[in-house]
Amino acid sequence: MLDRLNEVEKEIQSAGITNKSELEEYRVKYLSRKGIISVFFDELKNVDKSEKPLVGKKLNDLKKLAESLYEQKNAEFEKQASQVKTETDLSLPGRSSSTGREHILIQTLNDFCSIFKEIGFKVTLGPEIEDEFHNFDALNTPDYHPSRDIQDTFYVFNKYDNEKKYLLRTHTSPVQVRTMLKYKPPVRIISPGKVYRNETVTMKNYFTFHQIEGLYVDTNVSFKDLRGVLNYFVRRYFGENTKTSFRPTFFPFTEPSAELHLSCFICKGKGCRTCKNTGWIELGGCGMVDPNVFRNVGYDSEKYSGYAFGFGTERLAMMKYGVGDIRIFYQNDVRFLNQF
Ligand code: DAH
Repeated sequence: MLDRLNEVEKEIQSAGITNKSELEEYRVKYLSRKGIISVFFDELKNVDKSEKPLVGKKLNDLKKLAESLYEQKNAEFEKQASQVKTETDLSLPGRSSSTGREHILIQTLNDFCSIFKEIGFKVTLGPEIEDEFHNFDALNTPDYHPSRDIQDTFYVFNKYDNEKKYLLRTHTSPVQVRTMLKYKPPVRIISPGKVYRNETVTMKNYFTFHQIEGLYVDTNVSFKDLRGVLNYFVRRYFGENTKTSFRPTFFPFTEPSAELHLSCFICKGKGCRTCKNTGWIELGGCGMVDPNVFRNVGYDSEKYSGYAFGFGTERLAMMKYGVGDIRIFYQNDVRFLNQF
């Protein structure tokens, strides 16, 4: 038996265990209840009495050897497994974080504002929830004007105030009124912002859009000043060779009033799809502040004169960047927004 023990000892010493499943095979073979060592212990009772102490000792040593090898290998593999979990894999590609950016409409409004700021205009903001006085009455827009109809305007219920009617502003022009009520002339402001109209949503119309409003009031302000400033703006933003055309129209808050048209910046006035072959693109409205508006805000209409203008942003951005559907500006799809 001693010889067999020696053999098994050699076997154990030279056992090349390289992974957990080999270690398990080893345990079953030598250390389990039916394993080789257990069988040796069973056989010990058959060993001759004189040999028993020696064989017994050898068998105990063998058991210790087998167990210690098992413990050692087991600890080794456990350690390896935990290292695999926590070790940093330096070859993994880094996680990139994307940076936010301004929405294309806000970029457009900011570009407009910076040009006007250079020539002395101050950026002024107004509330998006307005009352009828600022949005309509003070701007000389009578009760029967179609824009006051609920078909066209979103009225807002204000539980704290039943006296006045509130609404989502239909244009940025009420900021003119707020400015004049607060400051004495001269005033020279630009006001970008969101406006709301009860429109049926289509590719071209949306229930909300952006405008930029301008107002200049002082002594001796003339239509020529208005043309000068708008020509300057248009050439700075759309290019030196852009032509403008001021066409008579009507707005309740300006007299005289004009629509501002630009020579098409896509075809340079030759005629294309964007300008519907007219060579011209409408940018917005403008005019000389109506004396009734001055009276409504307590300005002396004999002493002061002024001009105002208001441009839409979406239509312009659609033309400039070839966007066919206004709704895409409001869908927050980063694949669209990341292009700008
Ligand atoms: N508020 C007008 C609109 O929304 C645009 C406009 C026209 C603004 C003439 C003005 C102006 O300040 O003078 O259609």
